[in-house]
Amino acid sequence: MEINIEQVKSIIDPSLPLVSVLSNVSSLLNKMEGLNWAGFYLVKGDELYLGPFQGELACTIIKKGHGVCGTAFERKETIIVPNVLEFKGHIACSSASRSEIVVPIIVNDNVVGVIDIDSPIYDRFHDEEKAFVEQVAKALEACF
Ligand code: SME
Repeated sequence: MEINIEQVKSIIDPSLPLVSVLSNVSSLLNKMEGLNWAGFYLVKGDELYLGPFQGELACTIIKKGHGVCGTAFERKETIIVPNVLEFKGHIACSSASRSEIVVPIIVNDNVVGVIDIDSPIYDRFHDEEKAFVEQVAKALEACF
């Protein structure tokens, strides 16, 4: 992995506007090898709406429990999908995506957003990426 958690932490500043911080974090996340999308969905009520990201156009609203993002929102846990074609209900924003990791950002036991990272490579995400993206989510809690 070309980026480390210290680099990410160095650009996380809770005194800055949230959208600015998330925009720069999405840019750093996108430096991970073999990705076609990296960004955020943010919670409003029972839905997620598209936040700052790097990649192709994406769907703007995802309902709780729908797709990988909505499932991570509902379950309050990280989801790794090695093959999105086999994930029932996967929302295909890009037909190039083959695997995906979604990590919820949780503040006071409530999901406030998710980090969504997609790859055109099958089985791209493992424990190393899970640990890293969960650290990013943790570091972002103070910004919400
Ligand atoms: N694949 C996601 C939707 C978001 S896009 O990939 C950016 C999902 O099923 O939640």
